[in-house]
Parts: sequence; C-alpha cells; structure tokens
Amino acid sequence: MERIVEVEKIAFDSAEDASLRPSAWDDYIGQKAIKNNLRVFIDAANKRKEPIDHILFFGPPGLGKTTLAYLIAREMGANIKTTAGPMIEKSGDLAAILTNLSEGDILFIDEIHRLSHAIEEVLYPAMEDYRLDIIIGSGPAAQTVKIDLPRFTLIGATTRAGMISNPLRDRFGAHFRMQFYNTIELAQIAVRAANKLGKPIEKSAAEEIARRSRGTPRIALRLLRRVRDYAEVEGESAIGIERAIAALDALGVNEHGFDELDLRLLALLVEARGRAIGLSTLGAALSEDGATIEEVIEPYLLANGYLERTAKGRIATIKSYEALKLASPIAPAANKPSLF
Ligand code: ADE
Repeated sequence: MERIVEVEKIAFDSAEDASLRPSAWDDYIGQKAIKNNLRVFIDAANKRKEPIDHILFFGPPGLGKTTLAYLIAREMGANIKTTAGPMIEKSGDLAAILTNLSEGDILFIDEIHRLSHAIEEVLYPAMEDYRLDIIIGSGPAAQTVKIDLPRFTLIGATTRAGMISNPLRDRFGAHFRMQFYNTIELAQIAVRAANKLGKPIEKSAAEEIARRSRGTPRIALRLLRRVRDYAEVEGESAIGIERAIAALDALGVNEHGFDELDLRLLALLVEARGRAIGLSTLGAALSEDGATIEEVIEPYLLANGYLERTAKGRIATIKSYEALKLASPIAPAANKPSLF
C-alpha cells in the first residue's frame, strides 16, 4: 500500500497544519450549512449501519476540505486512507488502493480533477456497485474479470469543480461547495490554534489576523505562526494587538487579505479604467489558465465585491479602486491619487 500516502505530503498541507486541525466535530468552526447536512447523512448512515454515500467537496484551497473528511471518518468510526489525483498514475495504482480497502473505510482523494479519463473509468463501477472490472488481454481474446470490493465511501476534493467530468460528478451522492470564512469565524479559529500552540492571543489581535487572511483558515494559521514568532522574539507570553499589527505589517501582509495574484489581477482591471477585460486576456497577462482564474483567484474577489463578471468580461468595482487607493473612474472620489 505504499501508494496510499498521507495527503499532507503532497497537497500544501504541512504537518503543522495537521496538528492544529480540529479533532472533534464540534471544534470545527464555520461551514454551518455543510456541517448540518453532513450531520444528517452521518446519523442516517450510522443508524442503517451502512457506509455514508460518496461525497464531493469543492471550492478554493485552504477552506477545510481535508479536515472535514477526517472528521467524517471519525464520526463514522471509519478508517480513512488518503491520496491525491496526481499520485494515481495508472489504473493498477487505483486497483491496488481499492482492493486494499476494508468494509466501511473512507478513501479520500484530493485534487480528484487530476485523475485521467482511464482511471476515472475504474472508479465508476467501484463507486456504483463496489466492483472492480479488470480487463485481461486485448483484442477479441480480452476478458473482463469482476472483483467485488468492500463497501466504502469515496470523499473527493477539488479546487476545480469545472474540471470534473459529468459522469464522475454524477456518481457522488452529495456535492458541497466550501464557503469563505467570515472574520468572526477566522478569529475563533486563530484563538483556538493559539491556545494549542501555547501562546494565547487577544481577541482583537486574532481579528486583525482574520481580516488579512483572505477568508481562509490555512492562511490565518500561517499568519498566526509568524506573528507568534515575533511575540516570542520579544519575550511576550501572549499575542496582543500591537504585536499582531506590527508583525503583519512587517511581513507585508495586505490589509485587505489580498495575495500577489489578487493584486496583479485587480491592478489590470483598475488600469482598464472601467472597461471590461475578457478571461483569456487576463489569463495571458497573468500567465494563468482561465479556469484557475475563475475557480481559484476570482471567488474571493467576487464574494467580497472587488470585481464583477459581465458578459463582456471582468470589471473592477469602486471597492477595488478604494482598496488600491486609486480614484475610481466609476465614481470619482475627491483627493484620491490616480494612476491615470
Ligand atoms: N482549523 C482549520 N480549519 C478549521 C475550522 N474550520 N475550524 C476549526 N479549526 C480549524
């Protein structure tokens, strides 16, 4: 089973992230609607003494898809095996993983959109009928051998819902779109994690980190660790608001939570002075493919009103001109410097 690897090793998730991950259902903050739905599925499946139906989580990175998969396993009293799309190179790799599962196990496949078509085809009968169809030989002499699999649950996660084929998507019993977290939720996550790290944080300092975390727990936890470093060097036993602001400013963390790609995208839109820019033009200018822009970069900006999608393309909003401290051609504000 050497191909079944802990996802931490391959999917941006450090061992430190894992140590801060909530280990109890009630400690998981946010994603209320998803948690409520999952609670019903889990309780119903447990009552029927059956594995829970296959689940697909999608949405931008760092919002807790892996964490939820672990918590589901815990609530089901099930073992979880984790891997990721790019790790499964051949159909035989997936066959080996599936035949090594036990009844009730959860198989978590991160970046499931990266599975090749041939490998997806192995998954279809496995998901639908707990069956593996192995083709032996080729041409007229080819034979299909069917192997029964234990009843298992597949939990798939992807940042790129648009890249999942329809047949694969249809075989999941439930699809959940992860939402960005609000400041209160992120601050609660930071407070909890700071206590776990043995360096308590003031509520206002946690909120400062939360505001700059792009709605994303993974970013909040990363910033918390860096702010803790500053507090430690200064010999402080807890993290206060002044230390948080000074550290975040020293780290160059944007006050709106933007990362470098957000800023480059907004700069392009703002420079267009109210004209719409099409997705392919943005992609060429940013050296990113259109789908990454649409599914990874834009959701946060859209959710927070920093850009609008129109039939002609993307346009900056007044809010994005304000965030970049530029005068807006949409509603010119007095005394603001202008790029133009
Ligand atoms: N750590 C990372 N994500 C979390 C969440 N949603 N709730 C609690 N702790 C977390």
